[in-house]
Amino acid sequence: MKGIILAGGLGTRLYPVTKIIPKALLPIYDKPMIYYPLSTFMSMGIKDILIIAMQKDIKLFKSVLGDGSNIGISIKYEIEYEPKGIANAFIIGEEFIGSDNVSLILVDNIFYGDKIYDIFSNALLKNETATVFGYEVNDPERFGVAEFDNDMNVLSIEEKPLKPKSNYAVVGLYFYDNSVVNIAKSLKPSKRGELEITDVNKIYLKNKKLKVTLIDESNTWFDTGTHKSFVETTVFVKDIEEKSGVKFGCIEEIAYRKNYINKEQLINIANNIKNEYGDYLLNIVSEEI
Ligand code: G1P
Repeated sequence: MKGIILAGGLGTRLYPVTKIIPKALLPIYDKPMIYYPLSTFMSMGIKDILIIAMQKDIKLFKSVLGDGSNIGISIKYEIEYEPKGIANAFIIGEEFIGSDNVSLILVDNIFYGDKIYDIFSNALLKNETATVFGYEVNDPERFGVAEFDNDMNVLSIEEKPLKPKSNYAVVGLYFYDNSVVNIAKSLKPSKRGELEITDVNKIYLKNKKLKVTLIDESNTWFDTGTHKSFVETTVFVKDIEEKSGVKFGCIEEIAYRKNYINKEQLINIANNIKNEYGDYLLNIVSEEI
């Protein structure tokens, strides 16, 4: 399974903050936003990753993450010349996807919870065609919304409905088989002029090939696409890191714990971060001795 992180778009919802710097590189507490979706992929064992970003931003992403080799993964980059919608990621990423299955994560989607990676990894194992995830929210009209029958079979999916048929938002992490590339190519732009991910999901649903897995409330999902949710997520990460003493979304730690890199490589990274973050990485190694 390959992974695409969609970090494109103009970030207009966060103007003036994002006029120069893409939101994906702004800090959510102690690390850039993109660390979190990247850590979601790495925790699931997805190591072959494509980052899609606007042309003006590609250089910045490359200077932050490079080709991924220092954390034992592969990162490639493609340009989104103009924002054409989430489903366009599969057209831009066609060559990268090749004949593989693919997972897509939106860069502003952050997932936290003890069991969250079990939920994702199990769904990944079981995924044959398409899997999306539902999470209960108070403001479903902001999202893609899934409607269920009494047995929790999905009946419909609608993008930002004025009258949502449920409180279950479809979050920004998706697993697809290889046919998603052709499905994306067959889409017509929506009224807002975008190739909608919800339209991709509707095609799988119509063909009875869409699974919806629920993320229960013991886990937390953030869509950090607004000024307010940015701050809320930052405070959340600070609190849980202080309480637990464990960093969340720490790609260097995950790389080490998953044996993508060895002790020397981790120490090398840590020695180049001369602050509490670097000390944290050094501690991981010294605690094991
Ligand atoms: C997008 C999708 C929507 C999904 C949401 C999750 O919306 O279109 O279906 O629920 O991401 O973050 P956007 O945030 O681009 O408005």
